Amino acid sequence: MTYNAPMLASDLLDSVLKTADDALRTLFAPAHAVRNPPLPAESPLTEAEKRHAAGLMRINHAGEIAAQGLYRGQAAMSRPGSTREFLQRAASEEADHLAWCETRLHELDSRPSRLNPIWYLGSFVIGATAAVLGDELSLGFVTETERQVEGHLASHLDRLPANDQRSRAIVELMKSDEAAHAQAARTHGATELPGPIPTLMRVAAGVMTGTAYWL
Ligand SMILES: [Fe+2]
Ligand SMILES: [Fe+2]
Repeated sequence: MTYNAPMLASDLLDSVLKTADDALRTLFAPAHAVRNPPLPAESPLTEAEKRHAAGLMRINHAGEIAAQGLYRGQAAMSRPGSTREFLQRAASEEADHLAWCETRLHELDSRPSRLNPIWYLGSFVIGATAAVLGDELSLGFVTETERQVEGHLASHLDRLPANDQRSRAIVELMKSDEAAHAQAARTHGATELPGPIPTLMRVAAGVMTGTAYWL
């Protein structure tokens, strides 16, 4: 089949609409999990413990919003093939994390971060830029992101109230998925990111986690 200008314009319009639709659904529609693992029963928490657990789960939810932005930005700009398929698959697994965190926030009588549109958009731009630079570097972003997220989740296991077994179980599940995503990206040919990029990512993540606890 030969492409002509109207066909290219129509393809472009389709992908712009799909991108906008993904963003709006991620940010404003209730998230649905495909996997619904059994979780421990709710245990009694003081108001202060509930508020603290909600702050941490809001950070994790914001991180999952950023993961959706990153993976969808990467998938939008990567060439069709195994890397794009891997990114789309990872994004749909991350959607489970988003749904688990969202449900837990509601159970803790709380809400997601009001700054989520900013995290999504910023991550989408970073992901799209990485994809333009090539599959190996793009996959390198996945490995580095997952490595940093795993570190955050490990620190949350230290900080969550000891008796909030439900939040802790969600964080444990996410942590083991993130490690698998990092490993899968390595298997697909991820390269190590050059020096300052991981540091910049850590700074950006610090801003996000610092604000999402409160906002
Ligand atoms: Fe995740
Ligand atoms: Fe992940």
